[in-house]
Amino acid sequence: MLWFKKKESTAPRVLPDHIAIIMDGNGRWAKKRSLPRSAGHAAGANTFKTIARYCNKIGLPYLTVYAFSTENWKRPPEEVEGIMNLLRDYLKDAENFKDENIKVHFIGDLSPLAEDIQALIKKDEEASKDATGLTLNIALNYGGRDEIVHAVRRMISEGLSPEEVTEQAISDRLYTAGMPDPDFIIRPSGEYRLSNYLIWQSAYAEYWFSDVLWPDFTPRHLDQAIEEYSHRNRRFGGV
Ligand code: IPE
Ligand code: IPE
Ligand code: MG
Repeated sequence: MLWFKKKESTAPRVLPDHIAIIMDGNGRWAKKRSLPRSAGHAAGANTFKTIARYCNKIGLPYLTVYAFSTENWKRPPEEVEGIMNLLRDYLKDAENFKDENIKVHFIGDLSPLAEDIQALIKKDEEASKDATGLTLNIALNYGGRDEIVHAVRRMISEGLSPEEVTEQAISDRLYTAGMPDPDFIIRPSGEYRLSNYLIWQSAYAEYWFSDVLWPDFTPRHLDQAIEEYSHRNRRFGGV
């Protein structure tokens, strides 16, 4: 496969400001091994921790990962509960953030989540708020359209006039307010779609797709993706 070949280049590697990853393929990874889907999610959670640490190590300013979408509630209740339990384990393990200098932040509509999860999220966001390394956004019950609807509702309840409704006014009311838009969106697992991820913010993002399933994704794959990003010519409509 093309992305496993080493590119000959002397150009310096360009690190994006903000990478967004759609962590997909856990179920198929488990199926290939005749394991339950929950084993795929557990393996995917480990990959997530490895990749977040690696992004922090290489000095990436922002990483946003898709952990659970507004559409994922359609899955069997046992699967949803399994994912929520993995999240609980992650949140309780304060070591994830301590000493690592990673600032953790959740994006999405957190209100339908179990109260203990909401409390753990608050605690972990508070505990890591002064970290100066990677900002790690975890998208949970996140949907791009839902996010835009929330932003529009806010503008209406704040009484904005039609002239005040600008691109900036909308951006300022998204969950990612104040952060740069993702430069680079990575989706493993062989799917070529956004699945309602960061649809406003990704207007000018670069994309990288790969057949590797998320639990098999390694820092080496990320290096390959970033290397390829370095050679992209971003024109933003100019020449
Ligand atoms: C991504 O893996 C994890 C979530 C969506 C929560 P999937 O569970 O979608 O894995 P596949 O796509 O079925 O292989
Ligand atoms: C997107 O993956 C959501 C997450 C990775 C959390 P899905 O597996 O839910 O996306 P579709 O259904 O294949 O589009
Ligand atoms: Mg999937």
